[in-house]
Amino acid sequence: MIERSNISRHNQQVIEYFDQTHNDYRRLWGIDRHLGLHCGFFDESHRRHDAAVMNMNRVLAETARISPGDRVLDAGCGVGGSAIWLAENINNIRVTGVNINQMQVALANKHARRRDVQSSVQFHVADFAQTGMADQFFDVVWALESMCYTDDKQVFLDEAYRLLKPGGRLVIADGFLTRDDLGHKERKIVERWCRGWAIPNVLTVRRFQQQLREAGFRTVEFRDVTRHVTPSSRRIYVGSLLFYPLGLLLYWAGLRNEIQTQGIASGYYQYVARKTGLGVYGICCARKA
Ligand SMILES: C[S@@+](CC[C@H](N)C(=O)[O-])C[C@H]1O[C@@H](n2cnc3c(N)ncnc32)[C@H](O)[C@@H]1O
Repeated sequence: MIERSNISRHNQQVIEYFDQTHNDYRRLWGIDRHLGLHCGFFDESHRRHDAAVMNMNRVLAETARISPGDRVLDAGCGVGGSAIWLAENINNIRVTGVNINQMQVALANKHARRRDVQSSVQFHVADFAQTGMADQFFDVVWALESMCYTDDKQVFLDEAYRLLKPGGRLVIADGFLTRDDLGHKERKIVERWCRGWAIPNVLTVRRFQQQLREAGFRTVEFRDVTRHVTPSSRRIYVGSLLFYPLGLLLYWAGLRNEIQTQGIASGYYQYVARKTGLGVYGICCARKA
């Protein structure tokens, strides 16, 4: 449990964002069905939203070469979808999920009980950049669309390195920028994309790879999988076009708050960033020597 007074202002904004938008993720994203707060991975065999969301777990598990008996840290575990998927699909796996959002941790525990996987998974309220867990405890650190929420990515990467055993893997799926020499208009697009989703900043692919090496990781594989998340990116964009006018009306009527309204606007700008070539979605696997 984190003392409330020890939570940074930024992390409080992230907690608030997920608390306030929980019903939108339920109604518009379907998290009660698939338990995933991410874009999924669409391919020939996984063309539908729910199937793609589950498929992302398989893709990351294969990328990180997770095998029976591994200990995995799910850093920023949402409502527990990936941890539960791992428990149901890989023998003798032990997954610890951490999340700064207390409401989501309570839901993750509830889902784990319902799916009868409590003996393989545990969820705690903790900051993934400062877990307080033992050195070299995990075979894999898994961060699915969670690293982007931390303001200092280097602190998280250093912590992941510390927590991994030698030979351990860090697997990350997230959004990145293709370059940092942004013009005024491009900077505004990225700012509007990030602001409504409580994302403090987005790294370029180059800077991210540099930071991984600064943390000590040696083998770094990065795959641009933007086309595999494009259907989700488009779905969020279309949703923002349809619901933003209604969201504004409800905001003016006092029925939705600013966080909920800005969240919809970000859905528009994330797509513009991708369409204009500024944003990419990557899956990365880095190994501790
Ligand atoms: C977009 S959601 C992804 C959740 C989950 N990985 C999934 O794919 O379903 C981002 C998650 O990261 C969590 N998070 C953000 N910053 C965090 C931090 N510093 N420590 C732990 N969890 C964090 C959020 O509360 C949220 O659950």
